[in-house]
Amino acid sequence: MENPFQYGKVVSDPYFTDREEELKSLVQDVAAKHNVVLYSPRRFGKTSLLLKLANSMKDKGYNVLYLDFFRITSRAGFIELYAREIFKQSGKSWKPMLKKFASLVKGIRPVVSLDAMGVPSFSVSFETVEITQQTMESVLNLTENITPGKQWLVIFDEFQEITKLNGDGFENIMRAVIQHHQRSNYIFSGSSYHLLLEIFSRPGRAMYQFGKIMKLGKIPHEMMEEFIINRFAQTDVQISQELAREMVTRAGNIPNYVQYLAAELWQLALQSKHKPDINMLDKAVGGMLINLSDYFQQIMDSLSIHQKKVLVALSKDNVKVFSQEYHRTHHLGAISTTQRAVQKLVAEQLISPSDNGYEFGDPLFLLYLRSRINL
Ligand SMILES: Nc1ncnc2c1ncn2[C@@H]1O[C@H](COP(=O)(O)OP(=O)(O)O)[C@@H](O)[C@H]1O
Ligand SMILES: [Mg+2]
Repeated sequence: MENPFQYGKVVSDPYFTDREEELKSLVQDVAAKHNVVLYSPRRFGKTSLLLKLANSMKDKGYNVLYLDFFRITSRAGFIELYAREIFKQSGKSWKPMLKKFASLVKGIRPVVSLDAMGVPSFSVSFETVEITQQTMESVLNLTENITPGKQWLVIFDEFQEITKLNGDGFENIMRAVIQHHQRSNYIFSGSSYHLLLEIFSRPGRAMYQFGKIMKLGKIPHEMMEEFIINRFAQTDVQISQELAREMVTRAGNIPNYVQYLAAELWQLALQSKHKPDINMLDKAVGGMLINLSDYFQQIMDSLSIHQKKVLVALSKDNVKVFSQEYHRTHHLGAISTTQRAVQKLVAEQLISPSDNGYEFGDPLFLLYLRSRINL
């Protein structure tokens, strides 16, 4: 039997729940021609939501271009992928599109090869080594003029990665071109709040206030519980409301973790032929922690000694962090050093300010730290 839960990848129905309000609001923004900056920490469900939005907009007659900046490592790579995505929209009528493409873009030539079934695959060849501004501009303008009368939704996912493509220059060209667009709407999505704010909220930066910032939150606790109970039920496994609630809590209600934990629990129930219970949940959390430990170790390796020390202290005790007493108890040096470390940990989204101190964004990372301290 197939596991009724999916994690670590983009999900759609029946692995997708809720997000109705968010979807509605995004559809309205696109229809009203507002550009949107969509932010959440990684694995909250941005890409899944955006692909759902893409389908809604296609149903409304839009062409949709989706581009993941994690796949792009150079300007040439951007042009190549962008052009290919444009071309994909043409479907069967690719021949006239090809002609038009060639007349509109400067400095690159489209290349089409057909496979044995006659299905075209598209690439570009560059006429010069240096990619000129004119080439960039003509490519970015394609959505405006290659399909007369058609509206486009352009989704740039993990957009903060643009800062690695010799940032400012790229952003300048992009803003200069797309601010004039009438038929193309943009969504910039990303998982680094810190970098997105740099790009969109710092005066003087090219993309300053270019879009309305929308923060994607968690799915309400009860909806997640209901989703879990229903998915278990669809494979004839019963799970109590209490256990479902406990599971969502242990996963910090982070959508990816909830489904990850649910998948582990479902597997354990299947193997043992028992109804899921709290012991099984403990075991599932333990298994997940082992699987995630390499990833958590990598995060630790990326921090300075002092940042690590502060993080470990916070995993034991997270109030009155800047007091003398806290520093004595946890053997931390100067308070100003701790302040800098905390700033960095907040920027990295490992911790965030809470009512009376700091809290961990990732409950499993917290468990990981605690389990290592007790070794
Ligand atoms: N609407 C949703 N309902 C249920 N689970 C979801 C939903 N959105 C995301 N998830 C869970 O989170 C995981 C990561 O989703 P993804 O869209 O890749 O997030 P992001 O793009 O924010 O990193 C999915 O594999 C799934 O387990
Ligand atoms: Mg994503």
